Amino acid sequence: MLAVLDPWWGGLKGQAGALERALLLPRLYFQHFTTTSFLIERDGGQVAAFLVGFLSQTEPDAAYVHFVGVDPQLHGQGIGRALYRTFFALARSHGRRYVHCITSPQNTASQSFHARLGFTASTVKADYDGPGLDRVAFTLDLAADAIRPT
Ligand SMILES: CC(C)(COP(=O)(O)OP(=O)(O)OC[C@H]1O[C@@H](n2cnc3c(N)ncnc32)[C@H](O)[C@@H]1OP(=O)(O)O)[C@@H](O)C(=O)NCCC(=O)NCCS
Repeated sequence: MLAVLDPWWGGLKGQAGALERALLLPRLYFQHFTTTSFLIERDGGQVAAFLVGFLSQTEPDAAYVHFVGVDPQLHGQGIGRALYRTFFALARSHGRRYVHCITSPQNTASQSFHARLGFTASTVKADYDGPGLDRVAFTLDLAADAIRPT
């Protein structure tokens, strides 16, 4: 999965962005969060899409999408939406009402995607993830999502 990050994110934010993304996937996610994460592979076993998520330990009504990506060759076919829908169903089945996630302000594609899925976006939160690491935070209320047309 690490190998696809740079091509899939199109080198967003250069070397600093590449390091930020690589550091988002330490091994612990593949050890302790596999039951709430999804990987889609092509027939040959290459990665086609992934969603790494978890149920909040701190907030019993919340779930969190940590990282998501779809092969650019497969964009616009509903794969990102399908991954989120699968995660929403899982979150609901565990009694979770809210889904949270973040993105960088430069990632306008991600912001458009999350808006289409019904997420509410915050204003840009300066230094959210550390000095210079601004973020936009998204929240979706699954109770409201259940009555929204898909
Ligand atoms: C963001 C991403 C996951 C979307 O995946 P996808 O499979 O192409 O998205 P879908 O086909 O399921 O699209 C769902 C909706 O979002 C919209 N959407 C998706 N990408 C969009 C974009 N770049 N600009 C505007 N709208 C977009 C689609 O038009 C669709 O809306 P619809 O209701 O009108 O059909 C994918 O572009 C990606 O992997 N980007 C690079 C990595 C990234 O930025 N990840 C997220 C931040 S961590």
